[in-house]
Amino acid sequence: MSFGLGHGRTLDVAAGVVGIGEHELPPLPDDVLTDPESGRVDPREWFGEPSRPLEVEIGSGKGTFLLDHGATQTGVNLLGIEWAGEFYAYAADRVRRRGLANVRVLHADATGFLRWRVPDAVVRVIHLYFSDPWPKSRHHKKRVVQDRFLGDVWRVLEPGGEMRVVTDHDGLWAWDREHFERWCAPGSVALATGDGQRALGSGHEAQGTRHKEEPELAAFEMLPFTAPESAGEGELIGTNFERKFRREGRSFHACVLRKLDGPVR
Ligand SMILES: C[S@@+](CC[C@H](N)C(=O)[O-])C[C@H]1O[C@@H](n2cnc3c(N)ncnc32)[C@H](O)[C@@H]1O
Repeated sequence: MSFGLGHGRTLDVAAGVVGIGEHELPPLPDDVLTDPESGRVDPREWFGEPSRPLEVEIGSGKGTFLLDHGATQTGVNLLGIEWAGEFYAYAADRVRRRGLANVRVLHADATGFLRWRVPDAVVRVIHLYFSDPWPKSRHHKKRVVQDRFLGDVWRVLEPGGEMRVVTDHDGLWAWDREHFERWCAPGSVALATGDGQRALGSGHEAQGTRHKEEPELAAFEMLPFTAPESAGEGELIGTNFERKFRREGRSFHACVLRKLDGPVR
């Protein structure tokens, strides 16, 4: 399906400079299931200043947050991940035209990218705004937030790093809260390490058994959401979906999930 986003204009993603296709990554090794480290790439190296903090937006859509946040937070590197080809091209073309050196856009499934590609503890902030709600029960497995996904979020975040979440959808919010509360409970760090990951089947089995030594540690704490500098007056973030839903008079749910301090392994 085409949304006609280019309005007849050819979109230019500035391949390899702004836009990165998944095919540009090295193939996943055959033994990645038993050796998850073997498929890692370091997305910090895609930026001119790799030492800056890395922030990731999952599901960038038309790229409005990438443009606004990238322009106000010039000291961070911002990677947008979008799996729909037309939206990826539209967002990357906008970033190229705006000339933002600290923003890149990856055309990929963000959940697979986090699971198989991103090294431990390299991401400062993950932004997840207006994620697709998949309202039918049989489609809930397609929602971005899952236990395995939260294990990957915990692994790739720096200690003290955050995942920031906003949605308008009551059903998705109930689902998110149920998952977040499980991952904020005492002892939940066990879900992210050793036997917990074996139970989730994520391929992190080699990570050891820290939970046996520190049984009461929680993986995350949940905090109130605060608007970034790039948000407009009265906005939570100011993405396209937030603006559309505000015009429709909808209300919003938001929170921050902060990875509790401590060693990754
Ligand atoms: C409802 S839109 C929200 C777009 C934008 N965040 C906003 O607030 O305007 C959700 C976007 O996430 C993208 N998306 C959903 N699941 C994804 C995934 N696993 N990886 C990358 N992009 C995804 C969709 O293609 C879509 O563009």
